Amino acid sequence: METIEIGLLGLGVVGSGAVRTLEENREAIERKVGARVRIKRIAVRDTKKPRMVDVDPALLTDDVGAVLDDPGIRIVCELIGGVHPAREYVLRAIENGKSVVSANKELIAKDGHEPMHRASEQGVDFMFEGSVGGGIPIIQAMKSALAGNRITEVKGIVNGTTNYILSRMTEEGAELADVLRDAQASGYAEADPTNDVEGYDAQYKIAILSSIAFTSRVDTTKVYTEGITRVTAHDIEHAREMGYVIKLLAIGKSAGEDAIQVRVHPALVREGQPLASTLGPFNAILLRGHAVGDVLFYGQGAGMMPTGSAVVGDIMDVCRNILHGSTGRIACTCFQNKRLLPIETVVTRYYIRMYVSDRPGSIAAIAGVFGRHNVSIASVRANAPGSVDAHDTAEAIWVTHNVLEADIRSALAELQTIPEVRSVENWLRVEE
Ligand SMILES: NC(=O)c1ccc[n+]([C@@H]2O[C@H](COP(=O)([O-])OP(=O)(O)OC[C@H]3O[C@@H](n4cnc5c(N)ncnc54)[C@H](OP(=O)(O)O)[C@@H]3O)[C@@H](O)[C@H]2O)c1
Repeated sequence: METIEIGLLGLGVVGSGAVRTLEENREAIERKVGARVRIKRIAVRDTKKPRMVDVDPALLTDDVGAVLDDPGIRIVCELIGGVHPAREYVLRAIENGKSVVSANKELIAKDGHEPMHRASEQGVDFMFEGSVGGGIPIIQAMKSALAGNRITEVKGIVNGTTNYILSRMTEEGAELADVLRDAQASGYAEADPTNDVEGYDAQYKIAILSSIAFTSRVDTTKVYTEGITRVTAHDIEHAREMGYVIKLLAIGKSAGEDAIQVRVHPALVREGQPLASTLGPFNAILLRGHAVGDVLFYGQGAGMMPTGSAVVGDIMDVCRNILHGSTGRIACTCFQNKRLLPIETVVTRYYIRMYVSDRPGSIAAIAGVFGRHNVSIASVRANAPGSVDAHDTAEAIWVTHNVLEADIRSALAELQTIPEVRSVENWLRVEE
């Protein structure tokens, strides 16, 4: 049996998961591939650091060149993270004729086109299943089994940390800051949670998913991104009373031949829907294809072993391609440059919570403003539970029919200027 040598850049959470997956199932993996798969070198920053998996210390090096420039290594797994120097290492590996497996969502979302292009030129593979949804095999599915479909929508919960936080806020009626502190202490959230809480992690993932789904490049800087910091326990409670839960959604939709909508924001989701029932650190992604219909992917969206599973799956695919002389078989599929529509063009329903003057005619005056801005109201509840104590102020919760986001924004701007509205406390989109 031929031996295929691989090199790792990084032996952190994902690198360790990949090593453990390979070691725990080595015999079956090698029989399935038809080759021995050997880790030849592992480059890290600090070779003395304690590791999560047992590896021969002789494999560790702090010299990335020992991986990138070793002619015996055929596959480089980039499991470092961040754009630099990961990008330069990936390009160097490809220039050296090696296939690359990566789980680096930030690099692929922001700058994936160049490595993909270079990999095509070199006739090697560049695979990145672990970059979205941890162990959920959605990228390969879109590139292979579902490749015949015209995909019109891909949306889901792709960030486990915020889903865990929102799930606990919902269960406990707790505020974000308290749950976040606890999540950091128990390892569910990073010490610096900005990437997760502000929606950037979800932005990278939906940019990758949309680029594959809609065969187009997606500029991450144009993806509308709103995190969960505006979501309060109070909004979650109101949503629950109306039969909704609040989730951080990442949404990609086709908008005709040459345009797409890609956005990340919290939204009210109807209870009982698959996305509403996705709890804790789990991810769920719904995909709609013209031929296949709706497909739901569900599973652990991060973590050592789930992501290790995705990395090993990619390694095995590359090994098969090497054995059959077919590396570079699936080239970059983002061959179009579709327009990314601005958020103002979105048409959806909205939840709006405000404090209003508790006098006859207030609700009618506010409804009049909504009407002037083409915002049609589906329901309004005044003096809802949790209202403020001030005797002349009531809380009003409005839910609209489908309206244009530009109209909602102009209506809210005017509402903030009329005496009947004390304050617009929050507004969120409703995704049916
Ligand atoms: N964690 C997850 O659940 C998860 C899930 C999906 C995707 N990902 C992605 O997978 C990648 C790795 O994440 P991770 O959580 O495994 O990170 P991590 O635990 O921080 O591990 C990073 C590893 O890279 C090494 N490293 C960093 N900079 C290096 C450099 N300049 N040269 C050589 N080695 C370097 C570190 O070495 P030392 O150990 O010596 O410091 C460490 O072993 C990221 O792109 C991340 O977004 C992670």
